[in-house]
Amino acid sequence: MCGIVGYVGSKDSIPVLLRGLKRLEYRGYDSAGVAVLHENNLHFIKKAGKVSSLQSFIDDTTIKGNLGIAHTRWATHGEPNDINAHPHIDHTEKIALVHNGIIENYDSIKQALIKRGVPFTSNTDSEVLVQLISELYYNNNEKISFEDAVRAALQEVIGAYGIVVICKDEPNKLIAARMGSPLVLGIGEGEFLIASDASPIIEYTRNVIYLDDNELVTIDDGHYSISKIDSKNIVNKTLTKIDLTIEEIEKGEFPHFMLKEIHDQQHSISDTMRGRFNLEDGTTQLGGISDYFSNILSASRIYITACGTSWHAGLIGKHLIEEYARVPVHVEYASEFRYRNVIIDSDTILIAISQSGETADTLAAIRKTKKLGAITLGICNVVGSTISRETHAGIFTHTGPEIGVASTKAFTAQLTILIMLALKLGRKKNVSKNRGKKLIRALRDIDQDVVSILKNSDEVKKVAKNTWKANNFLYLGRGVNFPIALEGALKLKEISYIHAEGYPAAEMKHGPIALIDENMPVVFIAPQDDSFSKVLANIEEVKARNGIIITITDKKNNLLESLSDYILTIPNTHKHVFPITCSIILQMLAYELAICRGCEIDQPRNLAKSVTVE
Ligand code: F6R
Repeated sequence: MCGIVGYVGSKDSIPVLLRGLKRLEYRGYDSAGVAVLHENNLHFIKKAGKVSSLQSFIDDTTIKGNLGIAHTRWATHGEPNDINAHPHIDHTEKIALVHNGIIENYDSIKQALIKRGVPFTSNTDSEVLVQLISELYYNNNEKISFEDAVRAALQEVIGAYGIVVICKDEPNKLIAARMGSPLVLGIGEGEFLIASDASPIIEYTRNVIYLDDNELVTIDDGHYSISKIDSKNIVNKTLTKIDLTIEEIEKGEFPHFMLKEIHDQQHSISDTMRGRFNLEDGTTQLGGISDYFSNILSASRIYITACGTSWHAGLIGKHLIEEYARVPVHVEYASEFRYRNVIIDSDTILIAISQSGETADTLAAIRKTKKLGAITLGICNVVGSTISRETHAGIFTHTGPEIGVASTKAFTAQLTILIMLALKLGRKKNVSKNRGKKLIRALRDIDQDVVSILKNSDEVKKVAKNTWKANNFLYLGRGVNFPIALEGALKLKEISYIHAEGYPAAEMKHGPIALIDENMPVVFIAPQDDSFSKVLANIEEVKARNGIIITITDKKNNLLESLSDYILTIPNTHKHVFPITCSIILQMLAYELAICRGCEIDQPRNLAKSVTVE
């Protein structure tokens, strides 16, 4: 949510910053800007629209400089326009700042500054910070350093921030600070980068330091130092080597990251499982949680918390853990959990699921649980992310960077981890070796199942071509496939802007059936398992009301064919692996519908990946 990048070194910063912004654009894309220091002057350009539009403005100028900052925005306060775009510049036009986060007490600070005669130009909360720093630096009875002015300003604000700030009067200095919004420092040969994540950094260096909350880094004349924002105490941090390739963060021959990531599932699920099976014993190995495994086994209850798609994974996790391990599991939206009087004691385990590892609500839920004395585990994709560092232990999904805003391969990897966790717990309880082996064998065959699903793309396109004009879709599934119905509907809403709802199939009669007519496509998730006959009855009910029936199944039969307008068949597999494969065909359907509607697949309106504000 908002991407920030800063550079200081021997290169011209402009190309580095623009490339960095393009890599960070998945975090927000309503406006973008850069500011650089060059020959004692502060130059800046900021524009509504995408980074490509900023780039074309910059191409018409001679702006350059070895030290600069840049930002791509996802608006919270103030509409997306040139003025509200970052960097924000103080009224003396000497200081520039980029900010990711929300300053909650911005209005009271703004009013106080206005009383002191400080003029404001934007409607953002972020401008308050730069004006406050300026006031503390330039209009102060005692002379303080720029760094101390930044520190002092940050101690007045309440809220979340990742900032990078530069000043014309201290032209070799780049200062960054973090409270709640991620920042990574890249340390190269005679150059430094600071960014919201590592993607803008890896072209220049693999040596990074992840900043923690309440930390401020000052880069000055080729040196950096990290200290606490409030106490000024120096913090010694360890350098991390990042293991990420450029290919992984580019879309290659695919037209969209989402399509690339859908296709990545031919190997990303296996990547997630690699080295974690023990077929012989019908169980799994999850080294990341071994220190806490006995606590999980003896837990009186497990909470799973997450947001969005990761929350849907959590719902399936509940189903699986309760089925195999027989421990009660409660699944909560992190945004609700964090403010609820939840029942947590030392026998409670919290599992937080997050692709990015930076989602603000999920992080807050973890911090709350830790305070209450319970063990927290993370299921994360991004190594080095805040959630992966703040949980007691965790399991990485190893699915590679997910850049398309709509989550695809991270979701199937989360489901894979949850199956492996449930099985491991179950095997320590009453699940037989044979039952474990059956599940593992099905997982082991998943690559070929995915290949065969991807071959259905013509069928999926046909469904999309005939249904894309619909204003509403209904997705129905039962049991472990009900959350897949929710996820299918979410994917569709996000990228095609078609209103869609997911329901347990049997719930349809309790309300949504009123919506069904000849214009309503209904996607049925209908594997031939023990719930098949029940789902079939629901299909009949929709047919009787002339709904358009799209059935996803693992085995066609005559009755299904006569009832369905379209059937998408995917390979038969274990009933607990089916949600993974089924979600892939639903991702393909959402993608093709969005293509038919001419939507911006990787940058859907109003959305941003990685929601780092509340
Ligand atoms: C949907 C989607 C979002 C995320 C949610 C949580 O396609 O991507 O709903 O799942 O914002 O994000 P993470 O998993 O990064 O915590």
